Amino acid sequence: MEAIAVAAWVDGALVHPERAVVSAFDHGVTVGDGVFETLLVHHGVPFALRRHLERLERSAATLGLEVPGREVLARAVAEVVGEVVAASELAQARLRLTVTGGPAPLGSGRGAAGPTVIVAAGALEPLPPTVDVVVVPWTRNERSALAGAKTTSYAENVVALAHARGRGAGEAVFANTRGELCEGTGSNVVVGVDGRLVTPPLSSGCLAGVTRALVLERCQVEEAVLPVGALAAAEEAFLTSTTRGVQPIASVDGRPLARAPGPLTAAAAAGFSDLLASDPDP
Ligand SMILES: Cc1ncc(COP(=O)(O)O)c(C=O)c1O
Repeated sequence: MEAIAVAAWVDGALVHPERAVVSAFDHGVTVGDGVFETLLVHHGVPFALRRHLERLERSAATLGLEVPGREVLARAVAEVVGEVVAASELAQARLRLTVTGGPAPLGSGRGAAGPTVIVAAGALEPLPPTVDVVVVPWTRNERSALAGAKTTSYAENVVALAHARGRGAGEAVFANTRGELCEGTGSNVVVGVDGRLVTPPLSSGCLAGVTRALVLERCQVEEAVLPVGALAAAEEAFLTSTTRGVQPIASVDGRPLARAPGPLTAAAAAGFSDLLASDPDP
């Protein structure tokens, strides 16, 4: 079997990835009660760690989940990154930080054992220069109890991504229940509209992506509510995420956009790559 991770840390200690296990009764396993973050490890440094730890805390607060303090998590991340650097020549790796409700009774009620904390890192698949997307027939629920939280209840994303891949695409995009453009399964969406770059506001139900926030702050992107059809009608558009960075969208539902990348997208991609090269924790 191909190695899933090159380094792992579970509940306080580094472990060999093959022995990185949790209880079969962990509430993350039984009901998806957990939160997580995916970070980019860029030349041996976790990018935007502060923002990721802040978002993990916000997601945990939404679930009423206890998480260890930031120093504990940052130390665990540093230990795993140290292993990645020692074990491989990877210029870039992905690091995942997961906190679950811990061992619990079999129903939805949480147990008293305290959280399970897992940090793992592995290779990052090479990124194609552009991505084809499909708008899926299911909606994001902007009024969900979990709206805006990055939880381990991601099976809707699994189904949507499989739907997109079955149509030859690399990402699935959701509208919300109001028919507004929302986000991808693991990415935010930015659309060129009348010479401006626009991304849906958090009220659409999308995740507050770290990359989204950085392009909003640094790359002339604005927030505005958009009908989902604005994506297919755009001249240019791109996805943002920790693993994709700024990735131009080549086609929507099989129809090519006019430019991939368009000029606005190319400028945003250049701005983001400068930031990545110059500031490890913006
Ligand atoms: C649902 C969803 N939206 C957006 C994103 C992009 O967020 P980030 O830029 O922090 O990776 C992710 C990240 O995986 C996600 O899971």
